[in-house]
Amino acid sequence: MQTKKNISLKSYNTFGIEVKGQLLINITSEKELKQVYQSNELMALPKLVLGGGSNILFTKNQRKAILKINIKGIDVLDQKDHEVRVKVGAGEIWHQFVLWCLDHNLGGVENLSLIPGTVGAAPIQNIGAYGVELKDIFDSLEAYEIRSGKVRFFDKEQCQFDYRDSFFKGPGKDQYVITSVTFKLTTKPRFDVSYGGIQQRLNDQGLQINIHNISESVIHIRQTKLPDPIKIGNAGSFFKNPIIEKPLYDALKLIHKDLPHYPVDSKNIKISAAWLIEQCGWKGKRNDQIGVHERQPLVLVNYGGGKGRDILKLSEKIQVSIQKKFGIDLMTEVCIF
Ligand code: EPU
Repeated sequence: MQTKKNISLKSYNTFGIEVKGQLLINITSEKELKQVYQSNELMALPKLVLGGGSNILFTKNQRKAILKINIKGIDVLDQKDHEVRVKVGAGEIWHQFVLWCLDHNLGGVENLSLIPGTVGAAPIQNIGAYGVELKDIFDSLEAYEIRSGKVRFFDKEQCQFDYRDSFFKGPGKDQYVITSVTFKLTTKPRFDVSYGGIQQRLNDQGLQINIHNISESVIHIRQTKLPDPIKIGNAGSFFKNPIIEKPLYDALKLIHKDLPHYPVDSKNIKISAAWLIEQCGWKGKRNDQIGVHERQPLVLVNYGGGKGRDILKLSEKIQVSIQKKFGIDLMTEVCIF
């Protein structure tokens, strides 16, 4: 098992925050995971499980043992009619998996193109974009149960998926390490181009609807709207879009006629956090090395050399101003350590 001591974690988080990690352990199999959790030397050490580091903000040096999940593999399990089940190692890079699906003409994940991070992290927050969420193509997963040392199977219902949420952020938090995810893909995809300008892009380019062109459009839209973490440190949306009850929404709508909103169910409405942040004057605000992105204010950025605790302070100021102006609590999507 490969380990590294006292290393910089800068290349292990897409915010590019420079903090030190006392111990980093590279995990390439379930067996190694078991060894780490059951070793006398490591058992007592607190641990932090890391995927692609694309949804994390480090605010201090890390004394926990960092388990970098590198379990690989993409295997077709079976095919029934048009449905193909594919089991993917938790350490596979999400977009590499999307590209694999496109290469094999399997539909379902094309709207989720170019999302940073790993496959194992994807179910934890039920990643989503352009009208599709992970839960829509999810079959099951396997996770190492820390308490028992056994690998457990979870079906979709057991994962309790919700908007950017799952069992693994709630009751199962810090109790499991996801080792693989099985997806239900299809050779006869149903296309979803209704959201976020995909149809517009297809029309503009004169492209027919297929998984390849949808993926190309999503990549284009993401590249125009969102900062590339390789060039400007960021972890995608820093906050979740708030879900509010209808009476509050009705009251806000009277004053703010253009408030972007999406129905959730008969009682709740999801509203745009980007819009709220923009209304409070934060869009494009820059404070030395850190700031609020100029095109998508839901994304906080590290222009280089920024400190995690300064980004955290900035996020708290944003939360306070939104509570003051709209009476709404913005919840963070990013995990803070
Ligand atoms: N908007 C503004 N000002 C802006 C930008 C956007 O008012 O500067 C408003 C617009 O009305 C726009 C609306 O916000 O129509 C929604 O914007 P966008 O389509 O960019 O989506 P989002 O709700 O802000 C969510 C996800 C993104 C995902 C996009 C596209 C969350 C927290 N974020 O953002 O996911 O890429 O939809 O589907 O749900 C991520 O989670 O890291 C992420 C980037």
